[in-house]
Amino acid sequence: IVIILDFGGQYNQLIARRVRECNVYCEVLPHNTSLERIKELQPKGIIFTGGPASVYAEDSPTIDKGIFELGIPVLGICYGAQLMNYLLGGKVSKAPVREYGKTEVTVNHESKLFKDVSKNTICWMSHTDYIEQFAEGFTISAQSESCPVAAFEKSSQNLYGVQFHPEVVHSQEGTKMINNFLYEVCKCSGDWKMDSFTEQSIKDLKAKIGDKKVLCALSGGVDSSVAAVMISKAVGKQLTCIFVDHGLLRKNEGDEVEKVFTEQFDVNFVRVNAQERFYNKLAGVTDPETKRKIIGEEFIRVFEEEAKKIGTVDFLVQGTIYPDVIESGLGKSAVIKSHHNVGGLPDYVDFKEIIEPLRDLFKDEVRKAGLELGIPERLVFRQPFPGPGLAIRIIGDITEEKIKILQEADAIYREEIANAGLDRSIGQYFAVLTNIRSVGVMGDERTYDYTVALRAVTTTDFMTAEFAEIPWDVLGHISSRIVNEVKHVNRIVYDITGKPPATIEFE
Ligand code: XMP
Repeated sequence: IVIILDFGGQYNQLIARRVRECNVYCEVLPHNTSLERIKELQPKGIIFTGGPASVYAEDSPTIDKGIFELGIPVLGICYGAQLMNYLLGGKVSKAPVREYGKTEVTVNHESKLFKDVSKNTICWMSHTDYIEQFAEGFTISAQSESCPVAAFEKSSQNLYGVQFHPEVVHSQEGTKMINNFLYEVCKCSGDWKMDSFTEQSIKDLKAKIGDKKVLCALSGGVDSSVAAVMISKAVGKQLTCIFVDHGLLRKNEGDEVEKVFTEQFDVNFVRVNAQERFYNKLAGVTDPETKRKIIGEEFIRVFEEEAKKIGTVDFLVQGTIYPDVIESGLGKSAVIKSHHNVGGLPDYVDFKEIIEPLRDLFKDEVRKAGLELGIPERLVFRQPFPGPGLAIRIIGDITEEKIKILQEADAIYREEIANAGLDRSIGQYFAVLTNIRSVGVMGDERTYDYTVALRAVTTTDFMTAEFAEIPWDVLGHISSRIVNEVKHVNRIVYDITGKPPATIEFE
């Protein structure tokens, strides 16, 4: 195991992902984890994350200096590097030039960290403080034009620090550096693999559940589907899946989910058609957060009613994945949008314990596990679909007519993206029904109809994203199909904003 100590940076999950991609198991722990606990875990290495604070500020997150005496290799990233330097007697201060963005860094090949890395390599910088003077015994191992200490180390003690962020994709050889830290410095064995994980999980679930009853709220999304199938492989029909159709799914989606789960897997599948209830509650509501709240609450209510019919169950399944654990347990980052998982925890469902079979996995690992378990590829690679569904893709108030318009437009968009062979290279793409109506002309008639916005982004982690460059002819074809085939749409626009400053969804 490798431990990642969280100092509040925005890329902490990415660090953990990169480490796992190198086949090394890791966990993110809060920075105030005790040295005792860290020693108990016997990590092969420790990584300090970045963070927004200044090491010299009062109340900035810190750590017991004793961590450097444990004989465990440490890699400090950005704030983590500054903190290491500061604690060991070096000086950190506000940089004369704030560095942000892609920056050329010149590395020293004698450092184990930079084995096989190009002499001049592009790295992602994002810092206002810098290491003005490094601590005794350290040497500089990389520099950039405005950052004299872009990386430093004390190799005799296996202590390494980098000012840039090797974990983000913009650092072109960042993964290589992390790999070097894990294998050249920490001597990890690299035995974290997926097939052994699913096999072991099914065995453990079988032992834990025994002959008891399990209940699962199935959304049809990747996480809840993989969790459900994993449990069904362990205990078959002892599992009941409740699928609440809130009428805000994409075209035909409810039927597709039902088909997969009733035909392919051995579970009790209950579909609740609750469209009317949701539409009534949402009527006239325009605020995005209020929509989310209403849907989340109603979802729980419907689920509870169904669960009551089943009676007492022993276990409730949650499709929690590792990023959720990190975010809810440790994160200090600002809430941009609430309720990223519809459902929450039903208060009144009668169960004894929660099981979270995917708690230790990242999204890409959940997908790998899904394929291992025999879930159809189209479900496993389904792009993320928000819990509140089309409700947050219709700007303003929601009506059945608008849902219908959006479902049709979105279906055409998705069909044509697949036809163009772009469906796997674009991270997420969908149509949005804006609340703009404008004048158009159809035949000889004046129209006054809706504008549909098309959104498509490439992203690795959904925390940052760039707009996808879809060829003009593909966009042109989609545009004419939608305005020709979908009534009440007379204008199509394409969103060319990244995240930040926009978000992926419009609401
Ligand atoms: P944003 O819009 O925040 O989206 O850039 C990032 C990712 O999260 C999804 N998303 C949601 N998922 N409930 C969800 O389950 C929500 O309320 C919600 N809002 C956004 C979004 O689809 C994207 O993948």
